[in-house]
Amino acid sequence: MMIERVTRYSGWLFGAAALTLGSAVMVRAQGGQRDVWNGVYTAEQSARGKVAYAENCAACHGDTLAGIDVAPALAGGGFLNNWTGTSAGDLFSRIKTTMPLSAPGSLSGKTVADIEAYMFEVNGFPAGKLPLPPSQPMAAGIMIAPKPVG
Ligand code: HEC
Repeated sequence: MMIERVTRYSGWLFGAAALTLGSAVMVRAQGGQRDVWNGVYTAEQSARGKVAYAENCAACHGDTLAGIDVAPALAGGGFLNNWTGTSAGDLFSRIKTTMPLSAPGSLSGKTVADIEAYMFEVNGFPAGKLPLPPSQPMAAGIMIAPKPVG
């Protein structure tokens, strides 16, 4: 009788612990903690972005995103220094509202997200299963963070 009770109790405890663990894992996967090293765009998206970049950005920022004259590089150390600590949403609005410099605001949110995905690829961030979302608020939880060590 006594033993049976103890077994039941520890079974319940184990179940509760597993539940707690499970929800912690879900919270991590859903947001808050996401950054560009978690796979925040898809390969198809960056392939579309590459085409849109060539049409709308390359004339000023260069075919390899290295920058030309006053148009800064959109990949590499200097660019990452500027943007580390901000979010994919911040970069999204910078592009959406001020670029292309010759026609600010002319690109749809979807095209801007595609181009940003391509910039992420060139900067060495990995592709994943979910596309980069096409709006500032939805991309605001994705941090541009330094590469994790190890
Ligand atoms: C007509 C030339 C021109 C075109 C086209 C253009 N840009 Fe720019 N871009 C600039 C210049 C010049 C600057 C720097 C001055 C400024 O911020 O306005 C800049 C700055 C930027 C910055 C800020 C970089 C930083 O680290 O501060 C981003 C991001 C950017 N452009 C992205 C884009 C994207 C994406 C496109 C294509 C959709 C694009 N630009 C098209 C000229 C251009």
